[in-house]
Amino acid sequence: MIESAAFSLDCYCQAAREKIDRQLSEYTQFDDGCPDHLREAIRYSLLAPGKRLRPTLVLLAAEACGAEADAALPAACAVEMVHAYSLVHDDLPAMDDDDLRRGRPTCHKAFGEAVAILVGDALLTLAFEVLARDTQPPKVAARCCALLGRAAGAAQLVGGQADDLNEQFSGGGLETLEAIHRRKTGAILRVSLELGAVVASASDKEREALLKYGQGLGLAFQITDDLLDVTGDAQAMGKRAGKDSDHGKLTFPGILGIEESKRRAETLVADACQALEPFAARGEGLQALAQYVLNRNH
Ligand code: IPE
Ligand code: IPE
Ligand code: MG
Ligand code: MG
Ligand code: MG
Repeated sequence: MIESAAFSLDCYCQAAREKIDRQLSEYTQFDDGCPDHLREAIRYSLLAPGKRLRPTLVLLAAEACGAEADAALPAACAVEMVHAYSLVHDDLPAMDDDDLRRGRPTCHKAFGEAVAILVGDALLTLAFEVLARDTQPPKVAARCCALLGRAAGAAQLVGGQADDLNEQFSGGGLETLEAIHRRKTGAILRVSLELGAVVASASDKEREALLKYGQGLGLAFQITDDLLDVTGDAQAMGKRAGKDSDHGKLTFPGILGIEESKRRAETLVADACQALEPFAARGEGLQALAQYVLNRNH
């Protein structure tokens, strides 16, 4: 599919999404030990209509490195579970205190704060259960668990979130901001690509090219998220706009202004696409996805 002359990102993403959502649904049936309201809250947040960008990146990266997408499906689901947990916790009153997510009331608004915290706990742990059990062979599964654990951990996603909330950094400059964005958002996007590469037993050259692509894409993605918070439409985004300035957050448009932030995202995406050169036509899907990240409205 990726090697066909007329690659359609829409068609690819729709098919990927159906596959991912079917598997996520299967992974969240749970047995009788899971209380009904907890199961409902987990599925409410995980299966809500998000973009499924990270699991799609896992599949695209695995295919770019010559593997079948199905081999990477458990890793793709694991990454989406970690992402969904991070959103549920990000929206809590103690963090960004948001009411709307993926076009629905946030998890804590719908189910209460205690349940929302537990939804995050359950999704984070399920991610590693699935990754360890369903990725083959076990040695690859162990490597994937270590990589995802690091990306989701205190020096990456969690550390970035901590600094994002720390008022001490709210007056910081570009370097501080990039360091926050690379950890809170970039790390999970980068590891999505890396897991695809590891599952596909990619060469060092392929893995490094994907990480370079992920570096640019990750930062560009959070720049567009910051821009959408200023210029975007809440209806299209499924989340409130204008919340970063309300919270005094350090953001790209806040430091550079809107036009310069856009230019920065464009340069990052151009560099990211350049890094895909070793994949030639097999990198087409990732190229198209990077353009989408730049031009998205939600
Ligand atoms: C939102 O991520 C949180 C950020 C890291 C900026 P997405 O914009 O990918 O959210 P969903 O998954 O589509 O809801
Ligand atoms: C969230 O960043 C990043 C993570 C959840 C790790 P934001 O706080 O900017 O995301 P939104 O704008 O609420 O989706
Ligand atoms: Mg936040
Ligand atoms: Mg937020
Ligand atoms: Mg945001």
